[in-house]
Amino acid sequence: MRAVSRPGRAGCVRHWKGYHVKAVMAGQPIPLHQKAKSWIETYKHHRRAATGHVGNDISYHLELIGHLNRYVGVNVSSARILDLGCGQKAVQTALFHADGATVSGIDAEIATFSFGPRTFLRALASHGPERAFKSLARHILFDGAYTRDLFEKYGKPASYDGIDVRVMDATAMAFDDATFDLVSSKAVLEHINDVPAALREVNRVLKPGGIAIINAHLFSSLSGGHCLAWADPDRSPPQNVAPWDHLRENRHPPGVYLNRMKLPEYRAAFDAALCVVDEAVVLEGERHLLKDIEIELAAKGYTREDLLTREVRFIARKRQ
Ligand SMILES: C[S@@+](CC[C@H](N)C(=O)[O-])C[C@H]1O[C@@H](n2cnc3c(N)ncnc32)[C@H](O)[C@@H]1O
Repeated sequence: MRAVSRPGRAGCVRHWKGYHVKAVMAGQPIPLHQKAKSWIETYKHHRRAATGHVGNDISYHLELIGHLNRYVGVNVSSARILDLGCGQKAVQTALFHADGATVSGIDAEIATFSFGPRTFLRALASHGPERAFKSLARHILFDGAYTRDLFEKYGKPASYDGIDVRVMDATAMAFDDATFDLVSSKAVLEHINDVPAALREVNRVLKPGGIAIINAHLFSSLSGGHCLAWADPDRSPPQNVAPWDHLRENRHPPGVYLNRMKLPEYRAAFDAALCVVDEAVVLEGERHLLKDIEIELAAKGYTREDLLTREVRFIARKRQ
């Protein structure tokens, strides 16, 4: 993976004219044998992640604090922060809580970091038996060990006690206008159908002078199909799934909703809603892009940039 920074985007000068989001389900009805394969992949992925991701999550968190100091001039302990799409473990929410920030985590799904019988029943009622049992298995097998390791390595006393995590849709938030110094969101936007609506909400809840740091995993990248076998193409490419399968035969459809937006569409949506002050992209997978694959996918409208850009991270200010 290679990070490329593109600082100094003009921001706030371009105007948005009729932006249309592609609301396409990447997923489709999945036969049982494929589901079983995907469960095995999920198990292997979480086993790797249970030990591997703690360091990355802490580094990412420290970067967020650095940006908060640099762009807003506010110390984390006195900042009001939103972790948008905090996920079931609410990792960044918990770390900001440990920093002494006033932080809220929101997610469309019920957080499962304290997975008692009540949470299980709520998950069952809201997300159905398959997801509820998957969350329970993940909680028992991996999440506890992961968060113990995370809290131990963070170097500040951390816990979920008193944490503010709510079920809320990013496209219709229940917060007042101008509430947050920082809105942070990682690996969430690609799951949202109406990205322009979510970004308008981000702009609304940001304080003047506040910033949003938001990244999106790009669908057309090698790992963008959310096939766990291709989660880390440069370090552990799989033998049994063709590269860019999701844009070609799609033999391993993802079990989650993906909006399929491309980088230029994200740029247009950000420029319409907020004032972008910095953009960085992460590249991956160049050695897997053989000439015949590139030609095949060019015929479907994917450029080399589409195929090799894994994710984009925008830093944006409130549009006044
Ligand atoms: C891949 S997870 C990322 C979680 C977390 N940000 C992290 O980096 O670990 C994506 C999360 O986005 C949430 N999500 C998807 N659509 C959402 C929406 N419209 N509003 C709020 N959360 C949403 C999902 O429920 C899921 O927990």
